[in-house]
Amino acid sequence: MAPPPTLPENSFAASVHVATHLAPGWAQKALREEVRQAFTSMPKELSPRWLYDQRGSELFDQITQLEEYYPTEAERALLTAHASDIARTTGVGMIVELGSGSGDKTRTLLDAFQSQGTLRSFVPFDVSETMLRMAAGLLHERYPEAEIAPVVGDFNLHLDRLPSPQNRLLVFLGGTIGNFYPAERTIFLKSLANTLRCGEWFLLGADLVKDSKRILRAYNDDSGVTAQFILNSLHVLNRELDADLPVEDFSYVVVWDEDEERIDMRVRADRKIDATIGALNLPVSFAPGEELRVEISAKFHPEALVAELRAAGMVVHKQWIAAGNEFGLFLARREVEI
Ligand code: SAH
Ligand code: TRP
Repeated sequence: MAPPPTLPENSFAASVHVATHLAPGWAQKALREEVRQAFTSMPKELSPRWLYDQRGSELFDQITQLEEYYPTEAERALLTAHASDIARTTGVGMIVELGSGSGDKTRTLLDAFQSQGTLRSFVPFDVSETMLRMAAGLLHERYPEAEIAPVVGDFNLHLDRLPSPQNRLLVFLGGTIGNFYPAERTIFLKSLANTLRCGEWFLLGADLVKDSKRILRAYNDDSGVTAQFILNSLHVLNRELDADLPVEDFSYVVVWDEDEERIDMRVRADRKIDATIGALNLPVSFAPGEELRVEISAKFHPEALVAELRAAGMVVHKQWIAAGNEFGLFLARREVEI
């Protein structure tokens, strides 16, 4: 397994300009508001955005390298096989990637645009500035001719601030679309379509419904990395909000929700817990066995996803489905104003 990413000193990372749309203290403020909501509602539920602090981003990177976690390699194989087609079909000079993370798989795509001679600029967009700096540094070295222009932001809030000097391909990989609840997903796709001009492109990578045992295994690896990733959200609360949640007294619980066709990731209190979220002056208690939902990961049927994109104003021109419904790539185009 590759070592976890660290921010290299004296690398290009330092020289890449990162635009940020987040006011200083934004994350703190949002975390406070959300956590108050999360812990005073029933059942308790947290937003996945808080999973990606430095440690969380490192753990996520390890997840993508787990033998059990099939989506990364399945998506990479699809990208490798079809990147030239995507480059030819879209012919754009600018690629914007939402939730770009390490940008590891994206290189496959960028290589194809580079060899076609159309790659002018790449805008990785992520809520995690550390990840962005690291990814941007590496990309700058690999594509010295292209402009690498990272943007820090929240894709639920700041899509309208993406640069749009020319025709773009917006990319959203990794099955991150599955981490929205259906109602949020509708809003997200709609606002995404609204930020695209007619004729601009959207490439979506989504995980598909398949044998539930295979899906469950991907989120419940033997080495316990996924458990650490999900439990890390409690460490984030302790650190950022001066909470005293006893992380060792929580366990990771994952279930496949057959009706909703999604993975449901939670932490469960192993005993009765009384804690305080200091920054909110908020006492929180968990009954023995009580759970806090941290994230969902929905799986899709291709036809239904195509219909959702259509309803938002984007028409799928090409789709590639890996054998056994392992994963799907959907290339859609913003068609008409609706
Ligand atoms: N695209 C990468 C990473 C997927 S993990 C891959 O396919 O492997 C999800 C990424 O989205 C993380 O890098 C996380 O920091 C980012 N992210 C999560 N919530 C976000 C939000 N609300 N706005 C912007 N980025 C977000
Ligand atoms: N979006 C991907 C997925 O749902 C990656 C991911 C997000 C993930 N959160 C996760 C993977 C938690 C494992 C555990 O698969």
